[in-house]
Amino acid sequence: MAEINRQILLAARPQGKLELEHFRLAEAPTPRPGPGEILVRVRLISLDAANRAWMQGATYRSAVEAGQVMAGGGVAEVLESRAPGLAPGDLVFADVGWRDFAVLAADSVQKLPRIEPLSRLLSVFGIAGLTAYFGLLECGRPNPGETLVVSAAAGSVGSIVGQIGKIKGCRVVGVAGGAAKGALLVDELGFDAAVDYKAPDFRRALRAACPQGVDVYFDNVGGDVLETCLFAMNLGGRIACCGAVSQYDGAAPAHGPRGVPGLIVTKRLTLRGFVVTDFDDRREQALADLQAWVDEGRLKVREDIVDGLENTPAALIGLLAGDNVGKRMVRVS
Ligand SMILES: NC(=O)c1ccc[n+]([C@@H]2O[C@H](COP(=O)([O-])OP(=O)(O)OC[C@H]3O[C@@H](n4cnc5c(N)ncnc54)[C@H](OP(=O)(O)O)[C@@H]3O)[C@@H](O)[C@H]2O)c1
Repeated sequence: MAEINRQILLAARPQGKLELEHFRLAEAPTPRPGPGEILVRVRLISLDAANRAWMQGATYRSAVEAGQVMAGGGVAEVLESRAPGLAPGDLVFADVGWRDFAVLAADSVQKLPRIEPLSRLLSVFGIAGLTAYFGLLECGRPNPGETLVVSAAAGSVGSIVGQIGKIKGCRVVGVAGGAAKGALLVDELGFDAAVDYKAPDFRRALRAACPQGVDVYFDNVGGDVLETCLFAMNLGGRIACCGAVSQYDGAAPAHGPRGVPGLIVTKRLTLRGFVVTDFDDRREQALADLQAWVDEGRLKVREDIVDGLENTPAALIGLLAGDNVGKRMVRVS
């Protein structure tokens, strides 16, 4: 085990767009675990749009402050344990932070099965897959024949949402930036149509792709895409409010959604926010379904792996700009 622990600090909280200068690579001695703690080697760091939201203030977790090691979920391997139930070689999921090694309270980690490749533990069998599964099935409640629209559709959560929508018999329309992502959704992932929200005729194109209107909208982005989808919703439609990536990286938004309260009332819409951990008591069933769909070839896994801890800041900035396809993560060791 190396004595030096590389770690990436949030050097300053960004006021506008996130830049490389907001991070700093530092070195510290590798820490030792105390009673009830474990020392882990970080294997994979999950990159999530929410990482950027954590810099804005408290969300479902406390804010990341300037000078702190950047927070982030990840898969890690236990090197030393001073806690019952965890032994060297075990794999865990935890808020490991952007670093090589971490000492963690044993009761803050989740023990993982040894699945190969390990990256699946962050994509389809991790938070992305569970978020897609519960958000769509519990909040969206799709029925066969209904039209499902999902935004950030080529991203980690969205790409799984759309495929589960197809498994459940929906017409699935993905909203994503650019023609290449649209082609991937339709040609490789089996979506019925894709719409480019960056194109000038986005509103018209969405209407054309949803001739029967929208019954379920899985919202990963908020902002103008949410506003556009609100106007296209059918009576009794459901919106699963998963996240708002369009609002995370920059100053307060100057645009939509406008007219929201009136539309929600007149269209009798249900908007339901959720955090994936709300459904922790049912993860085993979800994982069994996801596993079966992967094994049957009905759910394709897209991963986007960047090598090297030092590349983590650029990989997050790129994710916010849309250069990822599927689940982005950093391989640390
Ligand atoms: N509720 C929960 O428990 C939970 C759990 C996990 C994630 N989430 C949420 O799920 C969403 C997806 O997160 P993720 O980490 O999986 O990231 P991701 O979807 O893999 O990547 C983010 C994508 O967002 C798109 N995007 C960026 N700016 C946008 C904008 N202004 N308008 C529309 N699309 C934009 C980009 O694709 P394009 O090229 O298409 O722009 C980018 O690839 C986020 O809102 C996140 O907060 C929620």
